[in-house]
Amino acid sequence: MEGGRESPWTRLPALMLVLLACAVASGDCRVVHVGEAHRRSMLANGLGSTPPMGWNSWNHFACDGNGEVVIRETADALVSTGLAAAGYRYVNLDDCWAEPERDAKGYLVANKKTFPHGIKALADYVHSKGLKLGIYSDAGYNTCAKAQPGSLGYEEKDAKTFASWGVDYLKYDNCNNGDLKPLQRYPDMSKALMKTGRPIYFSLCEWGDMHPAKWGAAYGNSWRTTDDIQDTWESMTSRADQNEVWAEYARPGGWNDPDMLEVGNGGMTNDEYIVHFSIWAISKAPLIIGCDVRHMSQNTYDIIANKEVIAVNQDRLGIQGKKVRMQGSQELWAAPLTGYRMAVLLVNRHAKDDAEITVHWDDIGLPTGTTVEARDLWLHKTLDAKFTDKMAFNLTSHTARMFVLTPLKSQMN
Ligand SMILES: *[C@@H]1O[C@H](CO)[C@@H](O)[C@H](O)[C@H]1NC(C)=O
Repeated sequence: MEGGRESPWTRLPALMLVLLACAVASGDCRVVHVGEAHRRSMLANGLGSTPPMGWNSWNHFACDGNGEVVIRETADALVSTGLAAAGYRYVNLDDCWAEPERDAKGYLVANKKTFPHGIKALADYVHSKGLKLGIYSDAGYNTCAKAQPGSLGYEEKDAKTFASWGVDYLKYDNCNNGDLKPLQRYPDMSKALMKTGRPIYFSLCEWGDMHPAKWGAAYGNSWRTTDDIQDTWESMTSRADQNEVWAEYARPGGWNDPDMLEVGNGGMTNDEYIVHFSIWAISKAPLIIGCDVRHMSQNTYDIIANKEVIAVNQDRLGIQGKKVRMQGSQELWAAPLTGYRMAVLLVNRHAKDDAEITVHWDDIGLPTGTTVEARDLWLHKTLDAKFTDKMAFNLTSHTARMFVLTPLKSQMN
C-alpha cells in the first residue's frame, strides 16, 4: 500500500464479520439511522440558492391571455424596463397552456390556439433574451382550472417533455387527484425531474395543507405555505402571517412561498403595495411579479425594481425574517444579513391611526451599546442620525419603513 498504510476498504470484510458475529450472538446489532431531524435533506439540483425572481401569468391573466404573444411581450418588457437586470429572470406560464387532451401517444400538447408555435419555440425565444421559461402542471388527473390534463401517472413522460422543450421551472399544484396526498405524488415528479438531468426549479404548490415546510426541501426548491393570494390588504397580510410561522424551515435551496406578488394589479394602494413587497422581500419569499409588466405605472416599477429591497431578499445568508415584536397593529420584522448587518421592517397595520414604532436592539438581536448607521431602503438615503440601542419612527396607516442597520466599525476597538 502507498505509504504503508492500510486502506479502509481492506478492513471492510473484517468489519462485516464483526457485524455478522454480533448479529448472530445477540440479535442486537441493528443498523442505526441518523435521526430524521438531523439528516440534511435538500434537492441537489443546484437551484434556489437565493429565492427565485421572475414573473407568472396567473395573478393578472388567469386563463385568459396566457398565450405566446403575451409571454413574448412580457419577456421583451422584462428586458427593456431593466427588471431582468434587477434579477427577474423566470417567465412562467401558469394553468391553461395545454390542449385539454394528451395526444395519441400520451404527450401533453401546447394549446393550438394560444401557443400555435409550441412551447419549445417559446422557450427558445425566452432564452434568447437571457431569461428562463417556467411551466405549470399538477399532481392530479387535471389541473386546477380543469382546462388540461395533470401529470398524475405521467410524471416521467411530462418531465422528459418539459426538459426537451428547455423548461427551467415547474410549478406543481395538487388538484383533482381524489384522495392522494402530495407526499404520495410530489416525490415522483421530483425524481422524474432529476432523471431528465436538466436542472428545473421545482415549486411545490399544495397551499400549505400538509405543512410542506416540514418535508418540502427534500423534493422541491420552494413550497407554498398559503392559499392563493387575492389583490387585497386582508389577503396579503394574512398570507404574510401564515408564511411567517414557518420561518425556521427556510434556507438556501428551499424556501417558504406565501404566493406571488399582486403589486401593480390595482387592488391596493401604493403604500400597501410597498408593505407587500417589503414583507415578501424580508421573508425571503420568491419574488414572482403578477402584474402586466408591459403596461405598468412608474409607481409599480419603482416598487418591484427597488434594488435595495431586492438585495435584502437575495442576501446570501438566506435567513427568513420574522416578526420579532407585535403591539396591537404595530409590527417589527427583522432578518440578519451578511456582514453583521440587519434588515428591519416597521409596519403600521392599523386601518386609520398613525403609530409610533420603536425598534429596540434586544428585540432584533443587536448587542446593547451598538451604534448603527441606518439606510432607508424606500427613501434611498442613509439617515444623518446614528442610533444606539433603539430607534423610533412615526408611521401613517398601512405604511412601512424598511432599513438596513450597519454597526459602525469605529466601535470595534
Ligand atoms: C411621533 O408623533 C408624535 C405626535 O406628533 C410626537 O410627539 C413624537 O415625537 C413623534 N415621534 C417620532 C419618533 O418622531
